[in-house]
Amino acid sequence: MNALSSEPTLNDLLTSRPPLEVNARDGLLFEGVPLHVIAAVAGTPCWITGAGTLRRRANALKAAFEARNLPVHFHFAMKSQDHQATLTILRECGYGVDIVSGGEMTRALHAGIKPNGIVFSGVGKSDLELRAAVEHGIRQINVESVEELYRLNDIAQACGKIAPAALRVNPDVDAQTHDKISTGRAGDKFGIEHRRAVKLYAEAAALEHVELVGLAVHLGSQMLTAEPFRQGYSRLADMVREIRALGHTVKTVDCGGGLGIRYQDEIAPPPEMLAGVIAESLGDLGVELSIEPGRWLSAPTGILLSRVIETKAGNPDFVVIDAAMNDLARPALYDSWHGILPVAPAAFNDALKPWDVVGPVCESSDIFAKDRVLPASLKRGDLVALLDTGAYGSVMSSTYNSRPFAAQVLVDNGRWEIIRQRQSVQDLIAAETIPDWLLPAHG
Ligand code: LLP
Repeated sequence: MNALSSEPTLNDLLTSRPPLEVNARDGLLFEGVPLHVIAAVAGTPCWITGAGTLRRRANALKAAFEARNLPVHFHFAMKSQDHQATLTILRECGYGVDIVSGGEMTRALHAGIKPNGIVFSGVGKSDLELRAAVEHGIRQINVESVEELYRLNDIAQACGKIAPAALRVNPDVDAQTHDKISTGRAGDKFGIEHRRAVKLYAEAAALEHVELVGLAVHLGSQMLTAEPFRQGYSRLADMVREIRALGHTVKTVDCGGGLGIRYQDEIAPPPEMLAGVIAESLGDLGVELSIEPGRWLSAPTGILLSRVIETKAGNPDFVVIDAAMNDLARPALYDSWHGILPVAPAAFNDALKPWDVVGPVCESSDIFAKDRVLPASLKRGDLVALLDTGAYGSVMSSTYNSRPFAAQVLVDNGRWEIIRQRQSVQDLIAAETIPDWLLPAHG
């Protein structure tokens, strides 16, 4: 802990994140690559993904389930990070994907994910999206409403196909996480109310172009305790038994995502916890199991590298960096806490003081950290790294204030490469047209 606050020290942040290290010549390195080198070539702000970290986590998650002798299909929630390189790495680790839009389906197929490795979740799938899913023959469509179920049946009929679907159940369980990322309470827009789902499942057996294969659930995100998982999965297990007692087949249960990580000082459960709860709640049902992890896999694989534009003395003292809420929206949206480390070697031995770390966007919510203890010497031109930004980071960026999308870099075992060029303002303008009648020459 910090002498100036109860938050983790710079050293705590470093030592608890194996991909990061500091040396006296280069300062902060990520997976062995000096961050100042990346900044010099790719510019800032810049997203950096660690391929080695992603592979390690992907394999550790699988191992947790293997240790339980629990065969599970792994579908990465690509909404958390959807770059082609990320999907390629995870595909090679044996992962499929959980998608929530036709756009994500196109991306996944482009990255070589087989249709059989794609599960389609999400409220409000359009007819076009459902049709594409049916035509590609994806593994499973998680239906979120009665209307969607009948719409899917009609669309599959028009395509001359039978669509494999699961009912996404809203089990009315409080995930005990941030309100804005809770999805499984009664009143949340997601899923079919659990009291109606058994009856609906039985009715849907009569549909000719939908094959109901099972149930799906997703309770929320950044979940840190076992209890809500246990409640949600036990409820699903009861439903599987009820549906079977009515004479219907349940082949699969999709357990969703939600496993949390340590950003600040949270006690984050290991994946073995999740494997244990799933094994205990659903392991003896003889169903094919799957999970949809996003954040646990991708958050610790990413950093957002940024440069100090200026400091502004006052009360508080501000450090203004060149990343902003349009790049990383999480702090503004969810008051989320992200570790911040300096990059220069000397900074790690400097005196410390509290800073408010802010971006240049014209909104008071463009704040990354308040009263954050960082080197007192921070000044124009210094680099800082915002940690654990690999999930819901670059994917949630906008171009607000005409700030183009930042560059992205992949670091892999000492090598690194720019994997998305920084967007230019010209790219933004090029997509816009001016109606003739607004131009002076008109009429
Ligand atoms: N499956 C479904 C159906 C989901 O809706 C989600 C996330 C996941 C899986 C993956 O959940 P995870 O394992 O990543 O917790 N933007 C927010 C998080 C929104 C999560 C939405 N659904 C944030 O930055 O915290």
